[in-house]
Amino acid sequence: MTPGRAKASRHFSGNVVVVASHNPGKVEEIAALLSDFGVEARGAGELGLSEPAETGVSFAANAIIKALAAARASGQPALADDSGLEVLALSCRPGIHSARWAGRTRDFRAAMRRLRDALGETADRRARFVCALALCWPDGHHEVFEGAVQGHLVWPPRGTRGFGYDPIFVPRGRKRTFGEMAPDEKHRISHRADAFRRLVAACFADRQAPDDGPRP
Ligand code: IMP
Repeated sequence: MTPGRAKASRHFSGNVVVVASHNPGKVEEIAALLSDFGVEARGAGELGLSEPAETGVSFAANAIIKALAAARASGQPALADDSGLEVLALSCRPGIHSARWAGRTRDFRAAMRRLRDALGETADRRARFVCALALCWPDGHHEVFEGAVQGHLVWPPRGTRGFGYDPIFVPRGRKRTFGEMAPDEKHRISHRADAFRRLVAACFADRQAPDDGPRP
């Protein structure tokens, strides 16, 4: 995969995309983004699709595994994302294991403590959130786009908004953590927004967003 690339060899021409996620919040967020391009999103849960094991060694590989499984099972193009936090001084950990660091109970307070302990006295607190978005067709063709937001980590955690590691992440050029920001502000600068912009530029560029004029 080429990080950040925005040129696709295949454009999206249909009207329905399966969102390869069983997380209703994520399906809703992607559905809202896609509706701007006249595309209807259907969740994998709603279609009764099973979730494949995320056995990839990168965000892109896991996004492709999820999107490909949903595209093959549904016979429709499918979109999946995979994301996480990379801490520079920890050789990019927790990375693709970001959710796993919070354990079965998804205890992110504990995951944030674990990160602080792993960093110890290390002064370098640079980190980034990464998101890979994969759009796959039932014939196996896929397009993958990666987005990122750079920043640094702070302790103690601040703010009650967002999810996961948001309360310890301050994006570059800002003073507040993602956990302290209004959702709109975070969504404008997030790794997911960055990846989605690249996907749109490459695969949906020939479709009109509402502000660009009437839809076909
Ligand atoms: P997934 O891609 O939805 O499975 O997310 C993987 C994990 O990465 C999440 O459970 C969070 O721990 C972390 N993560 C991904 N994106 C964000 C974010 O925007 N804020 C906070 N944590 C995130």
